[in-house]
Parts: sequence; structure tokens; C-alpha cells
Amino acid sequence: MITPEQKINELRRELNSHNYKYYVENAPTISDFEFDKMLRELIELEELYPHLKDENSPSMRVGSDLTNSFRTIEHRFPMLSLSNTYSSEELGEWLDKVKQEVANAEFVCELKFDGTAISLTYENGRLLRAVTRGDGSRGDEVTENVRTIRSVPLVLQGDDYPPFFEIRGEIFMPYSSFDRLNSEREQQGETLFANPRNAAAGTLKQQQSQVVARRGLDCTLYQVAGEKLPFDSHSESLDAARRWGFKVSSHTALCHTTEEVLAFINKWDTERHSLPFPTDGIVIKVNSFADRRKLGSTAKAPKWAVAYKFKAEQALTRLLKVTYQVGRTGAITPVANLEPVLLAGTTVKRATLHNADQIAALDLREGDMVYVEKGGEIIPKITGVELSERNSDSQPLQYITHCPECGTALVRYEGEAKHYCPNQSHCRPQQAGRIIHFIRRKAMNIESLGEETVELLIEHSLIDNIADLYDLRAEQLAPLPRLGEKSARNIIQSIASSCEVPFHRVLFALGIRFVGETTAKYLASHFGSMDAVMNSSREELLEAEEVGEKIADSIIDYFADEQNRAIIERLRTAGLKFEADAVKLSSQALEGISIVISGSFEQHSRDELKAMIEAHGGKNLAAVSANTTYLLAGAKIGPAKLQKAQKLGIQIISEQEFLAMIGDSAPIESAVPDIEEKMENKITTPTQGTLF
Ligand code: IVH
Repeated sequence: MITPEQKINELRRELNSHNYKYYVENAPTISDFEFDKMLRELIELEELYPHLKDENSPSMRVGSDLTNSFRTIEHRFPMLSLSNTYSSEELGEWLDKVKQEVANAEFVCELKFDGTAISLTYENGRLLRAVTRGDGSRGDEVTENVRTIRSVPLVLQGDDYPPFFEIRGEIFMPYSSFDRLNSEREQQGETLFANPRNAAAGTLKQQQSQVVARRGLDCTLYQVAGEKLPFDSHSESLDAARRWGFKVSSHTALCHTTEEVLAFINKWDTERHSLPFPTDGIVIKVNSFADRRKLGSTAKAPKWAVAYKFKAEQALTRLLKVTYQVGRTGAITPVANLEPVLLAGTTVKRATLHNADQIAALDLREGDMVYVEKGGEIIPKITGVELSERNSDSQPLQYITHCPECGTALVRYEGEAKHYCPNQSHCRPQQAGRIIHFIRRKAMNIESLGEETVELLIEHSLIDNIADLYDLRAEQLAPLPRLGEKSARNIIQSIASSCEVPFHRVLFALGIRFVGETTAKYLASHFGSMDAVMNSSREELLEAEEVGEKIADSIIDYFADEQNRAIIERLRTAGLKFEADAVKLSSQALEGISIVISGSFEQHSRDELKAMIEAHGGKNLAAVSANTTYLLAGAKIGPAKLQKAQKLGIQIISEQEFLAMIGDSAPIESAVPDIEEKMENKITTPTQGTLF
């Protein structure tokens, strides 16, 4: 008989190994389906036997909704930066100098990954913590977030790793993850990340690790650090790191001459364009640790390494005209229309200008000769104006004051760089955009309609808004171009079927700014109905998971609008689901009892607890008041709530006490040691040592 502990360990070993094959070696041997099945089995077992939980279990890779606190940690060895050069002459001089100081110098050339630096510490082969570079001496602890990056090993392979060591590298966002993230943000009307580097750095500092888990970050390691390492050279240390299960780039070369180094640089200056992740140069490092010691470091950077940075490709062309696009959310994006020019292998005709401030900062004028660059950014940008070629009669560009589509005066919201057209209901791109969002598969799934038909229906004045869809009749559609009776019937049929779509998707379909799919799910499960969401105060909205101030304000604004409320009423009449599916009553144990939940819990998420309260006939309240029976308190409970409960004499109960009340009290044996406590003991006073 195999014990649960043995089964859990076996699943963890297998999952770790498949994870490595998939994310480090890019050579999976099982299907995603099989992997997910094993992972689910592990999660179920860990829930059944909470004392066997482990912070480095593969199940932790999905992250959690707890709020990260990011405490500051001093680096054991400072995280230095690199001296940069853009010129091969300068690089040649550096190579010569090194060769003069050390005999038979060997250089390792590596790609310079364009992300954000990270330092990982391992103790007895297990990830102990991850810290950002910060100011070089101290950084932020981001362990929970880094655990979700699938290519970072949580448990090392082999048995020859030092018992305690640090390894440094770069967390980056591959282009595929970057494109997906930005297109999701665009659909939700959020500001886009300018480049994968900003996206990686921003993601790493996310408050909830489950958000990080979804964003597809990657991590490559390039420096083993420790006091007494069993290696004589960098290349040996990289080989060892590879053996232990780290992702270490294979795009490296061991070089002896300047020609060899330059050949490596030239090769990657072109080939980097076909890599699936961003790079911004080549790092050249002295290989031997003895040589590195001889060369030493300045306070800022080692003298044994240098970064050769690729020049962003640039072209000079004429700015013909600035036009303006209106997005689904009403955001105005100025676009530079250029005289076509060849840049990094493609013909560029347009460049984004982001907003009015950027145009003013560049003092851009139509007719100017402008510099266009394709750097880390995917979309080319204008970086400067060639003033010597400016016409003497040119005039500063006047930013538009009214919407180019509907003529409404534009507004600028506080803290937003962009201008917006506030005419949400009657500005054509916004109107069409909202309806197109509403019919999406992930929303109301009325896909038989399609974008073009939506445009057609608006043109023929058959629809103005999402509620109008439910008044359409097949006879109105059939005579329209490209439709006919059969399509008309299908469309009407799929509109009718959309009444079965669950409430959380209806909420998402409304297209409330910043309310994406996940937020809509949280809102639906927290509030349970459209009326509850609609009538909640800002404070009550903030109680829901994943809802911050920006989202709360946007929801309030949406429902404060008379026209939106009228549309909601028509959707209600049309029969759309305005309530989350009712929970089946498991018992009456909590009848007449009102409970407020606050903080984070060991065994269940807040929403699970909420569902349990309702399933046992109790009531879940958002705020503590005289009507509250119990305050169910978890870790990191809000101090205001706790104080208020104490003042009102409300009984405070723990998760275990709550579970006991509903007869679900699996005894928790020796609890896993508190991670905070464990960390406190581990953080040694930093030693200003050298790395080798
Ligand atoms: S070595 C003491 N190797 O570039 C030097 N850094 O501009 C340690 N970077 O902070 C860094 N790829 O974040 C090294 N192959 C590579 C790198 C690399 C990217 C980053 C790193 C560092 C920055 C310095």
C-alpha cells in the first residue's frame, strides 16, 4: 500500500520532471491534458492532507490571490551592473586591455537578455527566495511571484549542488506572452506595456502571484554566486547550473580573439530578430575566475565583463500627417503617417505617437523629417526631429479637441495620459466596439453574428446598442446584403441562446472598463447578482477579490450612467441571467448567522468560504456592523475591520472554528512551519564579499 505522502512525493517528482522537459528543454513527453490531470490529483491530495503542503510543490506554480508585501532584502553580494559600449572599436580596446593584464585570456560571449535582473537563493536544493536587483545593494523579495515561473526550478536535480548558493539571471517576457498580454489589455481598455522589458518588470511586482502565473514569464540564469564555489571558470559554473535543472542559454561561445568576439556579435545582430524573446546586446565575460579576481571591479561594475549593446535600427523619413484613431473605450491614439521607409527589414508607413504629451515633447510638426526607431518596441516609434530640415513656415501641431468620429469634445481623465471621447453610446467605433465585445465567444457567444454584420446592422439603423440585439427579428435581417433567410434565422437563434450564458459572462460582456473575464468571475461570485453589483458602494466593491480602486471607480461610473441602466433593464426583460447559479443548501447549520470574512486563509479561498457560508444557510456580509454574528479572520486581516469587530463585541473565529461549525473539521496536524518565521531565521547579515 502506498501512503498519501508517498503518492504526493511521486506526483511532485513526476510533475517537476515534466515541467523541466516542457519549459527548460522544450521537449515535452506527455500531453498538457495528462499533465493537468496529474496536477489536479496532487492539488486534491494536498487539500486532503494539508500538513503535507510544501511551498515548493509544483502546485504552487498557479500562484495565489494573497497580497504580496515585497519586503526589502540586502544582497549578500552587491548586484553590479555592466559597462556598456555601442562601438566595436571600444570593445576591441577593452579586449586588448584584458589580454595585457591576464595571459591567455578566454572570453565567454552571451546574449544580453532584455528583461529584469533576479537573484535566486537555494538551500539544500530548494528555492528559498528570489530578490530583484533594486538599487544593487538591496532589492524586493518576490519569491511567491517567481515560484509561478515554470522554468525556475523549485527543487534542483542531481546531488552535487552547494548546500547554500545564489544564482542570478534575467526574468523576461517572450514575445508571444507579450503580444497576448497587450491584446488582452487592449480589449479591456487598459494601457499597453511599451515593450516586453517593462511588461516583465511590471509583472514581477504584481500584488497577486496568480496574475503573474498567467502572464507567461520566463527566466534564464547566467551567474552562479557564492563564497566557496567548486568551479574555476564561468563556463564550468554554467554547465553545472544546467545539470541542476536551470535554464541556461546555449547561445554562447568561448572566444580567444577580437575577431571571434566580433563574429559572434555580428551573427546575433541579425539572428536575434528570429529569437522568440527580446535581447538588446551581447555580454562578453572573462571566463577564468582567477583572471576575474585579478581584474577586479569598480563600485559599479566588474572590470571583467562588458556589454556590447545593439543599436536600435533607425531611419529618417518625412512625417506626412498625424491622424487619430478612436478605440473601443473611446481612447484617442494619434498615429504618425510617414513616407514609407525601410527599417529592420520591413517597410514602415506608420508609427504610434501614444498621446498629446509625446507630440508636444518632440515639438512634432507635419512635414518634418523625423527619426523612426525600432528598438525593443514592436511598433516603430518616432524618437526625434531633424531640425535642420524643418521648413521655416511650419506650424506647431494642434492636437485635436473633438472626436474625429462623432465631433464630441474630448476629455482627459485625471492620471491618464490619453484623451478620451466621452460619447460612449453614440460614437461609432465605441458603439460598434461594445457590441462586438458583447458578442465575443468568451462573452455572450453570439459569434454567428460577426463583426461585419454588426457594422451592417448599425449602418441600417437596426441596432444602436447591445440591448437592441434582443429586439431583432429574422424578417429584418434576411433582406440585408450577404445575409439571407438561413443566416438570419441562425443569428436570431444564437441571440436567443445567449440568454443561457451564466451571469459572470453577462457581466463581462457589458464591457465595463477594466472588468475583464477574471474580475467578472470574482464579482459574480462575491455579489451573486446584477442588482447587488449595481447597487454596491465603492467600499463594498473593494471587498471583492481582485477589485482595486480603479476597477471599483469604473464600475460605479458605469452604473451611474442613466443610459447604461436603461440598457441593463432591457437586458433583464430580454431574459439574460442576472444571478449567479444558486448554491445547493447542504445544511441549515448557519441559519440566522451573518459572517464577515477578512484576511487570507490556509485551506480555502475567500470565495470558497463565502460559498460554504451560503450553502449552510448563513449570510455573508461585506462590512462589519452590529448585525454581524462572527468575524471569520484569516492572516493579514484588515486592522480596521478587526478593531471595529472588537469594539462591537463581535466574536472572532478562525478558519478551523468555522469549518467545525459546518461539520467539516479535518484536524490539522503538525502545521507546516510558518514561512515568514522560516525566512527570518535564514536571512543572514550581508557580507560585503566578492563572488569568487
Ligand atoms: S552578467 C556583474 N549576463 O544586464 C554583471 N547580465 O546592464 C552581472 N543582463 O543587470 C550581469 N543578460 O540584468 C549578465 N548574459 C547576461 C545578461 C545580463 C542581461 C542584464 C542584467 C544586468 C544588466 C546590466
